[in-house]
Amino acid sequence: MPVSTHITPAYMEGGFLQNSKECDIELLEVVGVIPDWLQGELIRNGPGQVMVDKPMRHWFDGLAMLHRFHIANGKVAYRSRFIDCAAFRATQKEGRITYSDFATDPCRTLFQQLQTIFNPDPKITDSAKVNVGQIGEKTFAWGEPLMQIQIDPETLKTVGVYDYGKYGGNRMTTAHPLVDEHGAYNLVVQYGPINFYKIYEISGDAKELASVPVQLPGYMHSFGMSENYFIIAEYPLVVQSIMLLFRAKPFIENFDWKPRMGSRFIIIDRKTGKRVSTIKVPAFFSFHHVFAKEKDGLLEVDLCAYENADIISEYYKERLVQSDNPLPKGSMWRFTLNLEKRTCIERRELADVCLELPVIHHAFAHRHGSYRFVYGCGVNEANPTEFYNQIVKIDIESASAKHWYKPNHYPGEPVFVANPDARTEDDGVLLSVVLDTQNKQSYLLVLNALTFEEMAKASLPHTILFGYHGTFLHRN
Ligand code: CO
Repeated sequence: MPVSTHITPAYMEGGFLQNSKECDIELLEVVGVIPDWLQGELIRNGPGQVMVDKPMRHWFDGLAMLHRFHIANGKVAYRSRFIDCAAFRATQKEGRITYSDFATDPCRTLFQQLQTIFNPDPKITDSAKVNVGQIGEKTFAWGEPLMQIQIDPETLKTVGVYDYGKYGGNRMTTAHPLVDEHGAYNLVVQYGPINFYKIYEISGDAKELASVPVQLPGYMHSFGMSENYFIIAEYPLVVQSIMLLFRAKPFIENFDWKPRMGSRFIIIDRKTGKRVSTIKVPAFFSFHHVFAKEKDGLLEVDLCAYENADIISEYYKERLVQSDNPLPKGSMWRFTLNLEKRTCIERRELADVCLELPVIHHAFAHRHGSYRFVYGCGVNEANPTEFYNQIVKIDIESASAKHWYKPNHYPGEPVFVANPDARTEDDGVLLSVVLDTQNKQSYLLVLNALTFEEMAKASLPHTILFGYHGTFLHRN
Protein backbone atom coordinates (compact mmCIF):
# COMPACT_ATOMS: atom_id res chain seq x y z
CA MET A 1 0.00 0.00 0.00
CA PRO A 2 1.44 3.42 -0.86
CA VAL A 3 2.25 5.47 2.19
CA SER A 4 1.73 9.20 2.09
CA THR A 5 4.91 10.95 3.17
CA HIS A 6 3.24 14.25 3.19
CA ILE A 7 2.88 16.13 6.47
CA THR A 8 0.25 18.81 6.91
CA PRO A 9 2.04 22.06 7.67
CA ALA A 10 1.41 23.26 11.21
CA TYR A 11 0.24 26.67 9.98
CA MET A 12 -2.75 25.26 8.05
CA GLU A 13 -5.02 25.02 11.07
CA GLY A 14 -4.50 28.48 12.58
CA GLY A 15 -3.59 30.26 9.36
CA PHE A 16 -6.15 28.93 6.88
CA LEU A 17 -8.81 26.67 8.40
CA GLN A 18 -9.97 27.74 11.84
CA ASN A 19 -12.78 30.28 12.18
CA SER A 20 -12.01 33.31 14.31
CA LYS A 21 -14.22 34.74 17.04
CA GLU A 22 -15.14 38.28 17.88
CA CYS A 23 -13.43 39.43 21.06
CA ASP A 24 -12.19 42.35 23.12
CA ILE A 25 -8.97 42.16 25.13
CA GLU A 26 -8.16 45.26 27.13
CA LEU A 27 -4.50 44.55 27.70
CA LEU A 28 -2.30 42.21 25.69
CA GLU A 29 0.82 40.83 27.27
CA VAL A 30 3.69 42.92 25.90
CA VAL A 31 7.30 41.74 25.89
CA GLY A 32 9.89 44.37 24.99
CA VAL A 33 9.37 48.11 24.65
CA ILE A 34 7.03 49.83 22.22
CA PRO A 35 8.43 53.25 21.25
CA ASP A 36 6.70 56.26 22.87
CA TRP A 37 5.94 57.86 19.54
CA LEU A 38 3.90 54.89 18.33
CA GLN A 39 0.37 55.95 19.29
CA GLY A 40 -2.64 54.88 17.27
CA GLU A 41 -4.25 51.80 15.89
CA LEU A 42 -3.32 49.13 13.44
CA ILE A 43 -6.42 47.86 11.67
CA ARG A 44 -6.12 44.70 9.64
CA ASN A 45 -8.54 43.01 7.27
CA GLY A 46 -8.80 39.39 6.20
CA PRO A 47 -10.96 36.29 6.39
CA GLY A 48 -12.56 35.54 9.77
CA GLN A 49 -14.95 32.72 8.90
CA VAL A 50 -13.71 30.17 6.38
CA MET A 51 -15.74 27.14 7.46
CA VAL A 52 -19.52 27.33 7.16
CA ASP A 53 -21.54 24.34 5.89
CA LYS A 54 -18.41 23.46 3.92
CA PRO A 55 -14.85 24.75 3.97
CA MET A 56 -14.03 27.66 1.71
CA ARG A 57 -11.48 26.64 -0.87
CA HIS A 58 -9.07 29.48 -1.40
CA TRP A 59 -6.97 31.88 0.70
CA PHE A 60 -8.99 34.74 -0.87
CA ASP A 61 -12.36 33.34 0.31
CA GLY A 62 -14.11 34.02 3.60
CA LEU A 63 -16.22 36.41 5.60
CA ALA A 64 -14.33 39.56 6.49
CA MET A 65 -13.01 40.14 9.98
CA LEU A 66 -11.36 43.35 11.13
CA HIS A 67 -8.65 43.28 13.80
CA ARG A 68 -7.79 46.39 15.74
CA PHE A 69 -4.59 46.72 17.78
CA HIS A 70 -4.85 49.94 19.72
CA ILE A 71 -1.43 51.13 20.86
CA ALA A 72 -1.14 53.83 23.53
CA ASN A 73 1.71 54.54 25.96
CA GLY A 74 3.40 51.23 25.33
CA LYS A 75 0.22 49.22 25.93
CA VAL A 76 -1.85 47.31 23.40
CA ALA A 77 -5.60 46.58 23.36
CA TYR A 78 -7.17 44.21 20.84
CA ARG A 79 -10.62 43.99 19.26
CA SER A 80 -11.95 41.80 16.44
CA ARG A 81 -15.28 42.05 14.64
CA PHE A 82 -16.82 40.48 11.61
CA ILE A 83 -17.83 43.11 9.07
CA ASP A 84 -21.58 43.52 9.34
CA CYS A 85 -22.92 43.16 5.80
CA ALA A 86 -25.59 41.23 3.88
CA ALA A 87 -23.38 38.17 3.21
CA PHE A 88 -22.40 37.90 6.88
CA ARG A 89 -25.97 38.20 8.15
CA ALA A 90 -27.33 35.66 5.62
CA THR A 91 -24.58 33.17 6.40
CA GLN A 92 -25.20 33.34 10.15
CA LYS A 93 -28.94 33.02 9.67
CA GLU A 94 -28.85 30.12 7.23
CA GLY A 95 -25.75 28.34 8.48
CA ARG A 96 -24.47 27.85 4.96
CA ILE A 97 -22.50 29.77 2.36
CA THR A 98 -25.06 31.97 0.64
CA TYR A 99 -23.00 34.38 -1.46
CA SER A 100 -20.42 33.78 -4.18
CA ASP A 101 -16.84 34.41 -3.16
CA PHE A 102 -13.53 34.59 -5.06
CA ALA A 103 -13.20 30.83 -5.58
CA THR A 104 -16.08 29.33 -3.60
CA ASP A 105 -19.74 29.37 -4.58
CA PRO A 106 -22.73 28.31 -2.48
CA CYS A 107 -23.93 24.73 -3.03
CA ARG A 108 -26.78 24.85 -5.48
CA THR A 109 -29.64 22.48 -6.04
CA LEU A 110 -30.39 21.63 -9.65
CA PHE A 111 -33.31 24.04 -9.48
CA GLN A 112 -31.04 26.80 -8.20
CA GLN A 113 -28.53 26.09 -10.95
CA LEU A 114 -31.22 26.57 -13.57
CA GLN A 115 -32.41 29.66 -11.79
CA THR A 116 -28.93 31.13 -11.98
CA ILE A 117 -28.78 30.55 -15.69
CA PHE A 118 -32.13 32.22 -16.32
CA ASN A 119 -31.69 34.87 -13.71
CA PRO A 120 -28.11 36.09 -14.10
CA ASP A 121 -28.06 37.97 -10.87
CA PRO A 122 -25.80 35.94 -8.59
CA LYS A 123 -25.29 37.31 -5.14
CA ILE A 124 -21.66 38.28 -5.00
CA THR A 125 -20.28 38.67 -1.50
CA ASP A 126 -20.29 42.17 -0.06
CA SER A 127 -17.96 41.08 2.73
CA ALA A 128 -15.13 43.53 2.01
CA LYS A 129 -12.23 41.52 3.36
CA VAL A 130 -9.15 42.58 1.41
CA ASN A 131 -7.99 45.98 2.54
CA VAL A 132 -8.70 48.84 4.91
CA GLY A 133 -7.74 52.50 4.68
CA GLN A 134 -8.85 56.09 4.70
CA ILE A 135 -10.30 58.49 2.16
CA GLY A 136 -10.41 61.90 3.81
CA GLU A 137 -11.70 61.43 7.35
CA LYS A 138 -13.59 58.24 6.53
CA THR A 139 -12.29 54.71 7.12
CA PHE A 140 -13.26 52.01 4.63
CA ALA A 141 -12.98 48.27 4.24
CA TRP A 142 -12.40 47.35 0.61
CA GLY A 143 -13.02 44.21 -1.42
CA GLU A 144 -13.37 43.68 -5.16
CA PRO A 145 -17.15 44.00 -5.68
CA LEU A 146 -18.23 47.56 -6.56
CA MET A 147 -18.90 48.78 -3.04
CA GLN A 148 -16.93 49.83 -0.02
CA ILE A 149 -17.97 49.50 3.58
CA GLN A 150 -17.41 52.50 5.81
CA ILE A 151 -16.44 51.45 9.32
CA ASP A 152 -15.93 53.09 12.67
CA PRO A 153 -12.21 52.51 13.36
CA GLU A 154 -12.81 52.31 17.11
CA THR A 155 -15.83 50.01 17.37
CA LEU A 156 -15.25 48.33 13.94
CA LYS A 157 -19.00 48.66 13.33
CA THR A 158 -20.35 49.27 9.84
CA VAL A 159 -21.25 52.94 9.43
CA GLY A 160 -22.48 52.88 5.85
CA VAL A 161 -21.86 51.66 2.34
CA TYR A 162 -20.28 53.56 -0.54
CA ASP A 163 -21.80 51.88 -3.58
CA TYR A 164 -20.71 53.98 -6.60
CA GLY A 165 -24.29 55.33 -6.95
CA LYS A 166 -25.61 55.18 -10.49
CA TYR A 167 -22.65 53.09 -11.69
CA GLY A 168 -24.05 49.75 -10.55
CA GLY A 169 -24.24 46.27 -12.03
CA ASN A 170 -21.78 43.83 -13.55
CA ARG A 171 -18.72 45.68 -12.41
CA MET A 172 -15.82 44.78 -10.19
CA THR A 173 -13.16 47.05 -8.77
CA THR A 174 -9.90 46.76 -6.84
CA ALA A 175 -9.33 46.72 -3.09
CA HIS A 176 -6.45 49.15 -3.67
CA PRO A 177 -7.87 52.61 -4.39
CA LEU A 178 -5.19 55.27 -4.76
CA VAL A 179 -5.31 58.54 -2.88
CA ASP A 180 -3.27 61.72 -3.30
CA GLU A 181 -3.80 65.44 -2.63
CA HIS A 182 -5.97 65.72 -5.73
CA GLY A 183 -8.46 62.96 -4.96
CA ALA A 184 -9.15 59.26 -4.54
CA TYR A 185 -9.38 56.91 -7.49
CA ASN A 186 -10.17 53.32 -8.32
CA LEU A 187 -10.01 51.05 -11.34
CA VAL A 188 -13.31 49.43 -12.33
CA VAL A 189 -13.91 46.64 -14.82
CA GLN A 190 -17.35 46.70 -16.42
CA TYR A 191 -18.56 43.44 -17.98
CA GLY A 192 -21.19 43.35 -20.73
CA PRO A 193 -21.66 43.07 -24.51
CA ILE A 194 -18.78 45.54 -24.57
CA ASN A 195 -16.35 45.45 -21.65
CA PHE A 196 -14.56 48.49 -20.28
CA TYR A 197 -11.72 49.40 -17.97
CA LYS A 198 -12.74 52.57 -16.18
CA ILE A 199 -11.18 54.96 -13.72
CA TYR A 200 -13.52 56.53 -11.18
CA GLU A 201 -12.92 59.43 -8.84
CA ILE A 202 -14.35 58.27 -5.51
CA SER A 203 -13.66 60.95 -2.90
CA GLY A 204 -17.23 62.27 -3.23
CA ASP A 205 -20.02 60.87 -5.39
CA ALA A 206 -18.45 58.47 -7.89
CA LYS A 207 -17.47 60.12 -11.15
CA GLU A 208 -16.18 58.39 -14.25
CA LEU A 209 -12.88 59.90 -15.43
CA ALA A 210 -11.80 57.46 -18.12
CA SER A 211 -13.21 54.54 -20.10
CA VAL A 212 -11.27 52.11 -22.29
CA PRO A 213 -13.13 49.36 -24.21
CA VAL A 214 -11.58 45.89 -23.99
CA GLN A 215 -12.49 42.65 -25.70
CA LEU A 216 -11.25 40.16 -23.11
CA PRO A 217 -10.97 41.84 -19.72
CA GLY A 218 -8.18 40.73 -17.43
CA TYR A 219 -8.13 40.10 -13.67
CA MET A 220 -6.41 43.00 -12.00
CA HIS A 221 -5.92 43.42 -8.25
CA SER A 222 -4.50 46.96 -8.26
CA PHE A 223 -3.41 49.77 -10.60
CA GLY A 224 -0.82 52.52 -10.69
CA MET A 225 -0.69 56.29 -10.67
CA SER A 226 2.04 58.84 -11.33
CA GLU A 227 1.88 62.64 -11.35
CA ASN A 228 0.16 62.79 -14.76
CA TYR A 229 -1.00 59.26 -15.53
CA PHE A 230 -3.17 56.37 -14.42
CA ILE A 231 -1.47 53.07 -15.23
CA ILE A 232 -3.48 49.94 -15.97
CA ALA A 233 -1.22 46.90 -16.18
CA GLU A 234 -3.27 44.23 -17.91
CA TYR A 235 -2.23 40.57 -17.63
CA PRO A 236 -3.46 37.80 -19.94
CA LEU A 237 -5.57 36.16 -17.22
CA VAL A 238 -8.76 36.96 -19.08
CA VAL A 239 -12.46 36.18 -19.14
CA GLN A 240 -15.23 35.93 -21.72
CA SER A 241 -17.64 38.17 -19.85
CA ILE A 242 -20.64 35.99 -20.74
CA MET A 243 -19.08 33.40 -18.39
CA LEU A 244 -19.32 35.86 -15.51
CA LEU A 245 -22.89 36.82 -16.32
CA PHE A 246 -24.04 33.20 -16.10
CA ARG A 247 -21.67 32.28 -13.30
CA ALA A 248 -21.56 28.51 -13.65
CA LYS A 249 -18.20 28.58 -11.86
CA PRO A 250 -16.79 30.62 -8.96
CA PHE A 251 -15.57 34.08 -10.03
CA ILE A 252 -11.85 33.48 -10.62
CA GLU A 253 -12.33 30.09 -12.29
CA ASN A 254 -13.92 31.80 -15.29
CA PHE A 255 -10.57 33.37 -16.16
CA ASP A 256 -8.02 31.67 -18.44
CA TRP A 257 -4.29 32.29 -18.72
CA LYS A 258 -3.50 33.14 -22.36
CA PRO A 259 0.20 34.00 -22.40
CA ARG A 260 0.32 34.49 -26.15
CA MET A 261 -1.77 37.64 -25.71
CA GLY A 262 1.09 39.17 -23.71
CA SER A 263 0.61 41.85 -21.08
CA ARG A 264 -0.20 45.52 -21.78
CA PHE A 265 0.30 48.83 -20.07
CA ILE A 266 -2.62 51.15 -20.78
CA ILE A 267 -1.64 54.70 -19.89
CA ILE A 268 -4.34 57.32 -19.26
CA ASP A 269 -3.85 61.07 -18.92
CA ARG A 270 -5.18 62.06 -15.48
CA LYS A 271 -6.36 65.49 -16.67
CA THR A 272 -8.18 64.55 -19.86
CA GLY A 273 -9.10 60.93 -19.12
CA LYS A 274 -7.84 60.04 -22.60
CA ARG A 275 -5.66 57.04 -23.31
CA VAL A 276 -2.21 58.34 -24.31
CA SER A 277 -0.37 55.08 -24.91
CA THR A 278 -0.74 51.30 -24.99
CA ILE A 279 2.44 49.30 -24.66
CA LYS A 280 2.66 45.56 -25.19
CA VAL A 281 5.15 43.48 -23.22
CA PRO A 282 5.69 39.73 -22.79
CA ALA A 283 3.15 38.06 -20.49
CA PHE A 284 3.57 38.49 -16.75
CA PHE A 285 1.23 38.66 -13.76
CA SER A 286 1.05 40.85 -10.69
CA PHE A 287 -1.25 41.55 -7.77
CA HIS A 288 0.42 44.70 -6.52
CA HIS A 289 1.70 47.86 -8.12
CA VAL A 290 4.32 49.40 -5.86
CA PHE A 291 5.26 52.79 -7.34
CA ALA A 292 5.34 54.74 -10.62
CA LYS A 293 7.52 57.64 -11.55
CA GLU A 294 7.93 59.96 -14.54
CA LYS A 295 11.57 60.56 -15.34
CA ASP A 296 13.28 62.16 -18.35
CA GLY A 297 10.20 61.76 -20.52
CA LEU A 298 9.86 58.08 -19.57
CA LEU A 299 7.55 56.29 -17.17
CA GLU A 300 8.93 53.78 -14.67
CA VAL A 301 6.39 51.29 -13.33
CA ASP A 302 7.41 49.11 -10.37
CA LEU A 303 5.38 46.04 -9.50
CA CYS A 304 5.67 42.86 -7.51
CA ALA A 305 5.53 40.50 -10.49
CA TYR A 306 5.38 36.83 -11.48
CA GLU A 307 6.22 35.01 -14.72
CA ASN A 308 2.61 33.78 -14.89
CA ALA A 309 -0.61 33.59 -12.88
CA ASP A 310 0.06 30.16 -11.28
CA ILE A 311 0.25 31.87 -7.88
CA ILE A 312 -3.56 32.10 -7.83
CA SER A 313 -3.99 28.32 -8.08
CA GLU A 314 -1.24 27.77 -5.53
CA TYR A 315 -3.32 29.66 -2.95
CA TYR A 316 -6.04 26.96 -3.01
CA LYS A 317 -6.00 25.31 0.40
CA GLU A 318 -5.79 21.83 -1.12
CA ARG A 319 -2.51 22.97 -2.71
CA LEU A 320 -1.25 24.81 0.37
CA VAL A 321 -1.81 21.75 2.53
CA GLN A 322 0.46 19.67 0.32
CA SER A 323 3.36 22.13 0.45
CA ASP A 324 5.57 19.92 -1.71
CA ASN A 325 6.76 22.73 -3.95
CA PRO A 326 7.76 26.31 -3.23
CA LEU A 327 5.19 29.01 -3.97
CA PRO A 328 5.82 30.75 -7.30
CA LYS A 329 8.28 33.55 -6.57
CA GLY A 330 7.09 37.13 -6.86
CA SER A 331 9.77 39.81 -6.98
CA MET A 332 10.22 43.51 -7.71
CA TRP A 333 10.24 44.32 -11.41
CA ARG A 334 10.66 47.70 -13.07
CA PHE A 335 9.27 48.46 -16.53
CA THR A 336 10.65 51.59 -18.20
CA LEU A 337 8.15 52.81 -20.77
CA ASN A 338 8.47 55.28 -23.63
CA LEU A 339 4.89 56.52 -23.98
CA GLU A 340 5.43 58.38 -27.24
CA LYS A 341 7.11 55.48 -29.04
CA ARG A 342 4.81 52.95 -27.31
CA THR A 343 7.69 50.73 -26.35
CA CYS A 344 9.05 49.16 -23.22
CA ILE A 345 12.71 50.17 -23.12
CA GLU A 346 13.69 47.95 -20.26
CA ARG A 347 12.20 45.24 -18.05
CA ARG A 348 14.40 44.61 -15.06
CA GLU A 349 14.18 42.60 -11.85
CA LEU A 350 15.19 45.08 -9.15
CA ALA A 351 16.21 42.39 -6.68
CA ASP A 352 16.24 38.61 -6.82
CA VAL A 353 14.30 38.32 -3.56
CA CYS A 354 10.95 36.57 -3.01
CA LEU A 355 8.33 39.18 -2.15
CA GLU A 356 4.57 39.54 -1.76
CA LEU A 357 2.34 42.01 0.10
CA PRO A 358 4.81 44.80 -0.78
CA VAL A 359 4.83 47.94 1.36
CA ILE A 360 6.75 51.20 0.97
CA HIS A 361 6.87 54.46 2.95
CA HIS A 362 4.29 56.07 0.66
CA ALA A 363 4.42 59.59 2.06
CA PHE A 364 8.21 59.66 1.64
CA ALA A 365 8.07 58.26 -1.89
CA HIS A 366 5.37 60.76 -2.84
CA ARG A 367 7.32 63.68 -1.33
CA HIS A 368 10.65 62.76 -2.91
CA GLY A 369 9.38 61.25 -6.13
CA SER A 370 11.36 58.09 -5.40
CA TYR A 371 11.94 55.42 -2.79
CA ARG A 372 14.70 53.02 -1.88
CA PHE A 373 13.18 50.45 0.47
CA VAL A 374 10.36 48.00 -0.03
CA TYR A 375 9.14 45.66 2.72
CA GLY A 376 6.96 42.60 2.47
CA CYS A 377 6.58 38.90 3.16
CA GLY A 378 8.72 36.24 1.58
CA VAL A 379 9.86 32.66 1.87
CA ASN A 380 13.10 31.81 3.64
CA GLU A 381 15.42 29.37 1.89
CA ALA A 382 15.76 27.32 5.07
CA ASN A 383 12.14 26.22 4.58
CA PRO A 384 11.47 26.92 0.91
CA THR A 385 8.22 24.95 0.53
CA GLU A 386 6.42 26.75 3.35
CA PHE A 387 3.90 29.58 3.12
CA TYR A 388 5.36 33.07 3.68
CA ASN A 389 7.64 32.67 6.67
CA GLN A 390 9.73 35.84 6.82
CA ILE A 391 9.61 39.62 6.62
CA VAL A 392 11.97 41.14 4.08
CA LYS A 393 13.36 44.61 3.49
CA ILE A 394 14.75 45.15 0.04
CA ASP A 395 17.16 47.97 -0.74
CA ILE A 396 16.53 48.49 -4.45
CA GLU A 397 19.64 50.66 -4.83
CA SER A 398 21.97 47.84 -3.84
CA ALA A 399 19.58 44.98 -4.75
CA SER A 400 20.27 43.54 -1.29
CA ALA A 401 17.87 42.43 1.43
CA LYS A 402 17.53 42.07 5.16
CA HIS A 403 15.15 39.55 6.67
CA TRP A 404 13.42 38.65 9.90
CA TYR A 405 12.98 34.90 10.13
CA LYS A 406 12.10 32.54 12.99
CA PRO A 407 11.28 28.89 12.36
CA ASN A 408 7.57 28.19 13.04
CA HIS A 409 6.64 31.89 12.97
CA TYR A 410 4.60 33.14 9.99
CA PRO A 411 4.29 36.90 9.56
CA GLY A 412 1.61 38.80 7.68
CA GLU A 413 1.98 42.01 5.69
CA PRO A 414 4.37 44.38 7.51
CA VAL A 415 2.76 47.83 7.79
CA PHE A 416 5.36 50.61 7.90
CA VAL A 417 4.89 53.43 10.42
CA ALA A 418 7.40 56.28 10.20
CA ASN A 419 9.02 57.77 13.28
CA PRO A 420 7.69 61.36 13.41
CA ASP A 421 11.29 62.61 13.87
CA ALA A 422 12.66 60.39 11.09
CA ARG A 423 15.70 61.53 9.18
CA THR A 424 15.84 58.60 6.81
CA GLU A 425 13.26 56.79 4.71
CA ASP A 426 13.47 53.65 6.81
CA ASP A 427 13.40 55.25 10.28
CA GLY A 428 10.26 53.73 11.74
CA VAL A 429 8.71 50.41 12.64
CA LEU A 430 7.04 47.54 10.84
CA LEU A 431 3.88 46.13 12.41
CA SER A 432 3.10 42.55 11.47
CA VAL A 433 0.68 39.99 12.88
CA VAL A 434 2.65 36.77 13.24
CA LEU A 435 1.31 33.23 13.68
CA ASP A 436 3.40 31.19 16.13
CA THR A 437 2.49 27.56 15.47
CA GLN A 438 4.36 26.12 18.45
CA ASN A 439 2.52 28.23 21.01
CA LYS A 440 -0.67 28.19 18.91
CA GLN A 441 -1.07 31.95 19.16
CA SER A 442 -0.72 35.06 17.06
CA TYR A 443 1.07 38.20 18.15
CA LEU A 444 1.67 41.73 16.98
CA LEU A 445 5.35 42.16 16.19
CA VAL A 446 6.94 45.61 16.40
CA LEU A 447 10.10 45.44 14.29
CA ASN A 448 12.66 48.23 13.93
CA ALA A 449 12.47 48.95 10.18
CA LEU A 450 15.99 50.39 10.16
CA THR A 451 17.88 47.59 11.90
CA PHE A 452 15.37 44.73 11.68
CA GLU A 453 15.70 44.12 15.40
CA GLU A 454 12.63 43.07 17.36
CA MET A 455 11.42 45.87 19.62
CA ALA A 456 8.31 44.33 21.13
CA LYS A 457 5.60 41.76 20.76
CA ALA A 458 2.04 41.82 22.04
CA SER A 459 0.58 38.31 22.28
CA LEU A 460 -2.96 37.09 21.80
CA PRO A 461 -4.26 33.96 23.55
CA HIS A 462 -5.40 32.55 20.20
CA THR A 463 -4.51 32.42 16.51
CA ILE A 464 -5.65 34.72 13.69
CA LEU A 465 -6.19 33.51 10.13
CA PHE A 466 -3.66 34.80 7.58
CA GLY A 467 -5.06 38.13 6.36
CA TYR A 468 -4.18 40.49 3.58
CA HIS A 469 -3.80 44.21 4.15
CA GLY A 470 -3.92 46.70 6.99
CA THR A 471 -3.35 50.33 7.85
CA PHE A 472 -2.09 52.35 10.77
CA LEU A 473 -4.13 55.32 11.94
CA HIS A 474 -2.20 57.84 14.04
CA ARG A 475 -3.70 59.19 17.23
CA ASN A 476 -2.11 62.15 18.96
CO1 CO B 1 -3.83 43.31 -2.33
